[in-house]
Amino acid sequence: MATLEIKNLHANADEKEILKGLDLTVESGEVHALMGPNGAGKSTLANAIMGHPSLTAREGQVLFDGEDITEAAPDERARLGLFMAFQYPVAIPGVTITKYLRSVMNAHRVARGEAEISLKEFRKTVEEAMELVNVPREFTTRYLNDGFSGGEKKRLEVLQLALQKPKIAILDETDSGLDVDALNVVAHGINEVAKANGTGVLIITHYQRILHQIVPDRTSILMDGRIVREGGPELVDQIETTGYEQIRADVAAAATK
Ligand SMILES: Nc1ncnc2c1ncn2[C@@H]1O[C@H](COP(=O)(O)OP(=O)(O)O)[C@@H](O)[C@H]1O
Ligand SMILES: [Mg+2]
Repeated sequence: MATLEIKNLHANADEKEILKGLDLTVESGEVHALMGPNGAGKSTLANAIMGHPSLTAREGQVLFDGEDITEAAPDERARLGLFMAFQYPVAIPGVTITKYLRSVMNAHRVARGEAEISLKEFRKTVEEAMELVNVPREFTTRYLNDGFSGGEKKRLEVLQLALQKPKIAILDETDSGLDVDALNVVAHGINEVAKANGTGVLIITHYQRILHQIVPDRTSILMDGRIVREGGPELVDQIETTGYEQIRADVAAAATK
């Protein structure tokens, strides 16, 4: 079990206050959906959780299993068991996927004081992960993100997720730009990983489509730097019917009461 707890987080990007007292909890073994309109602060929150240097936490805390990681370096957070899939992954031409995955895995092992993984053991682990998330074998001999379609990039993220077995994963707009087939593969992979490894998943999206296939245990709505609604999967349906504007109006009305 692991718990990621964000308490009263205020964060600035440059001089602008983006997160304005945000509270959120994500636990291993649960799928938590974070929804909100464009510009609400979702990616800013993801970056704050991973310790992106462009953000300053002015107030509040990020806790991982009770340990304060508000100021921890990104690799320290990764070592504790946090994983983040980036909205815009980089391309590293000339590095095959296999080589990349192995070096990431070894970096984690070395950080934990373990020996590097043998080639044989690595192959076995990758094969299991590929099977779990339905990634074809020829995929791993390709070069990292070089000419990848949106769907292929996301598939790689899911493969990494299966391989790394983090305690908690933050997936920012994993569904963006995916066609139906790619979405199905990615959603299936995330469900399998959550089930097989007990990974807690924070799915960040402004669009409810992926949440029909990965049914969240909990849903939180982020607007203007704060969580304004919390609930279960029914909140996803509500947004689908009424849009964010209704919630925005309700929040504004409650504030002036
Ligand atoms: N580095 C930055 N400097 C100034 N403003 C930023 C920076 N990064 C994001 N913002 C602003 O913060 C707000 C929230 O952005 P973001 O977290 O990307 O929203 P979302 O992911 O919910 O669409 C937006 O108004 C955006 O323009
Ligand atoms: Mg975003």
